[in-house]
Amino acid sequence: MSSHPNIARTLDVPSDPGRLPMTLPLLAEKKRRGEPVVMVTAYDYPSARAAEAAGVDLVLVGDSAATTVLGHSATTPVRLEDMLVLASAVRRGLATPLLIGDLPFGSYEVSDEQAIATAVRMVQEAGCDAVKLEGGAEAPASRARAIIGAGVPVMGHVGLTPQTATALGGWKAQGRSAQAAARIAEHALALQDAGCFAIVFEAIPAAVTEEIMPVIDVPVIGIGAGPATDGQVLVFHDLLGIRDGLGPRFVKRYANLQQEMNAGVSAYAEDVRARRYPAPEHTYSIDPRELAELRELLAAAAGR
Ligand code: KIV
Repeated sequence: MSSHPNIARTLDVPSDPGRLPMTLPLLAEKKRRGEPVVMVTAYDYPSARAAEAAGVDLVLVGDSAATTVLGHSATTPVRLEDMLVLASAVRRGLATPLLIGDLPFGSYEVSDEQAIATAVRMVQEAGCDAVKLEGGAEAPASRARAIIGAGVPVMGHVGLTPQTATALGGWKAQGRSAQAAARIAEHALALQDAGCFAIVFEAIPAAVTEEIMPVIDVPVIGIGAGPATDGQVLVFHDLLGIRDGLGPRFVKRYANLQQEMNAGVSAYAEDVRARRYPAPEHTYSIDPRELAELRELLAAAAGR
């Protein structure tokens, strides 16, 4: 079990006792060995426990929290304060995966100083091991370099960057022309040069990813970027079907939990309305003598 100071309670997670906590050297080693890296998002204690139990390598508290758990239609409204609360809960549920906190929109764009201050809060207050930021142009690469210089590891993110989806023409695949694909390669290289320990490739044609991979030395984690990456990431709510609709084409659904939740709450509501719940096994008992005395006390209080 991790000795992270923010783990305030004993984990009841069935984690493999032989599994080593994920570190940056171990992650780099996985790439060298060609072992697929597994990453998933999490936003609270139960989702963190599921990630721990599955033995994933990397957990991202994504700003996708804005849509998955906060009900917004874009990622931009989520605030740093929201991310700190969510990431702290995830921290308490993890022992072995590396915990990465997304820097939300507006929390790092202004200056390198602002980016460092935000990253430090994610580490100090929420217990993140690393942070992620979006984009690979000059400014994001400079922010990444500054944060890394302050001692916080950074994961980059290129291709479809949801925080700037409007500027990119909407939530759609990127790099579908030679020029656009070359720009993605340029951004990934800039993030690698800045010192990022890994880079997310999102919504990029599989053939483009394949062309770029040979020039990237750090682990590349794909989401909708095909099979050539070093690992894959999916949003927790997408892969478990905790959402309305199917989601993007790259999502593979492994469960239908929204349906199960709806069915469970409906069954409970029916039981309450039919007075089937609570049954005797759901109630507490009292000694009959105490009950008799209570009746006397209540009668006396009522003046009977
Ligand atoms: O916020 C998020 O969930 C992400 C992943 C899609 C990589 O950035």
